[in-house]
Amino acid sequence: MLKLALAFLCLALVADAALIRVPLTKPNKRRSIKNLSTQRAVLRSKYSTNFVVSSEQLNNFLDDSYYGPITIGTPPQNFQVLFDTGSSNLWVPGASCAPTDSACQDHNTYNASASSTYQANGERFAIQYGSGNLAGYLVEDIVNLNGLAIEAQVFAVATSEPGNTFVNSEFDGILGMAYQKIAVDNVVPPFYNLYKQGLIETPVFAFYLTRNGSSTQGGEMTLGGIDSSHYVGELTYVPVSIEGYWQFTMDSVIINGLNICVECAGIADTGTSLLAVPTSIYESVQNAIGAQSDGEGDYMVDCSLTNTLPIVTFNIGGTAFNLSSAEYIVEVEANNGSVLCMSAFEDADTNLWILGDVFIGQYYTVFDMGQNRVGFALAAQNSTTGGSSIGSSSYIFGIIVPIVVGFYGLWLNKN
Ligand SMILES: *[C@@H]1O[C@H](CO)[C@@H](O)[C@H](O)[C@H]1NC(C)=O
Ligand SMILES: *[C@@H]1O[C@H](CO)[C@@H](O)[C@H](O)[C@H]1NC(C)=O
Ligand SMILES: *[C@@H]1O[C@H](CO)[C@@H](O)[C@H](O)[C@H]1NC(C)=O
Ligand SMILES: *[C@@H]1O[C@H](CO)[C@@H](O)[C@H](O)[C@H]1NC(C)=O
Ligand SMILES: *[C@@H]1O[C@H](CO)[C@@H](O)[C@H](O)[C@H]1NC(C)=O
Repeated sequence: MLKLALAFLCLALVADAALIRVPLTKPNKRRSIKNLSTQRAVLRSKYSTNFVVSSEQLNNFLDDSYYGPITIGTPPQNFQVLFDTGSSNLWVPGASCAPTDSACQDHNTYNASASSTYQANGERFAIQYGSGNLAGYLVEDIVNLNGLAIEAQVFAVATSEPGNTFVNSEFDGILGMAYQKIAVDNVVPPFYNLYKQGLIETPVFAFYLTRNGSSTQGGEMTLGGIDSSHYVGELTYVPVSIEGYWQFTMDSVIINGLNICVECAGIADTGTSLLAVPTSIYESVQNAIGAQSDGEGDYMVDCSLTNTLPIVTFNIGGTAFNLSSAEYIVEVEANNGSVLCMSAFEDADTNLWILGDVFIGQYYTVFDMGQNRVGFALAAQNSTTGGSSIGSSSYIFGIIVPIVVGFYGLWLNKN
């Protein structure tokens, strides 16, 4: 018994010694209504292979995104990356990016010649985003996630970025955390290598995202385990149904007693800000919550009614996960500066439910690649980040990567 307790203590100490926190910050800004419509385009290009966006449809887009720092190469070159559980590649802009490409110029770029650990690969790389291709080539180098140095990680160096898609983003690149099956060029994702190279003991990561618009802390990503101080109650696990995205089957989604879950495949996606629903039920969801079309693709509610709208219940793995209207209505700013209340339900343009940050912000989410399952539990509202006050009853296994909330500023030309 004592031996067991000691072993446990040692494990806890080891885990603590390996604890790494990458702080995330969050700008105090409100989304602007003009900036939102491009998000749909990006969402579509991410989940639908045959979606073609014409630039005419697009507007500016500014929304929350959760990102944190990594370094690449020797000596280390610094980058901010969006931790995206809805994709599987790491890419950053390259130093050789076209001088005319303002998205590259505004960001940190990777210079292979300045890194002694760089290895050529050369295979071409392209990802389709809203207005065009993000294109470049693959290289290999050390990628360091807050002290965890992944050797010979293959990643993409972008030499052109589409239109103005990333011009205003506060992150430089994206670090995909979904399965290798959806990785472009079948590149082994960084998280796989963290585990393969023994840098983490358990192939599990988890996200705690803060949803307080005025808070500067964005939350934490834990690598190699979970942080029990960030949720209350028990985790409910559901098996991954298709290993590509973090996809699972939902039992039902109930609004006012009505089950609106027609296509009940869900995806947990930290790279999506809102909550996207299958096209077939998009309008019925808006009707059920009482939101009205503004004629420009967004659905709005009278702000004075925000607290009176129905609860939306997601039944997953036998547990009910409720979202109240305060959680699924987001405040946006009209051009004239007035505050409008917008439904966070977006048209996914696929038959998937994409549970983005609106959901993950309420429900601590565990991504367990060892057991191919996703876990949810009510996020602790007053949870602290930064390691200063982990309660005695809580436990942490793994590496804490604090993340910031920033704005994913997509700026695409409207005519
Ligand atoms: C890349 O690094 C090399 C070697 O340090 C340097 O000579 C070159 O100017 C750098 N290129 C850019 C675009 O910064
Ligand atoms: C949001 O953050 C502000 C400033 O940090 C704090 O005063 C407020 O209590 C927070 N609200 C919630 C609901 O956590
Ligand atoms: C979730 O919402 C349902 C339907 O409104 C309600 O019956 C239930 O009590 C709620 N559960 C929690 C935990 O709030
Ligand atoms: C500001 O714009 C919104 C939406 O376009 C409109 O509903 C509102 O009446 C306007 N407010 C003022 C004071 O003009
Ligand atoms: C979004 O709109 C606001 C207000 O219209 C503007 O200040 C901001 O620059 C826009 N952001 C982007 C990324 O275009």
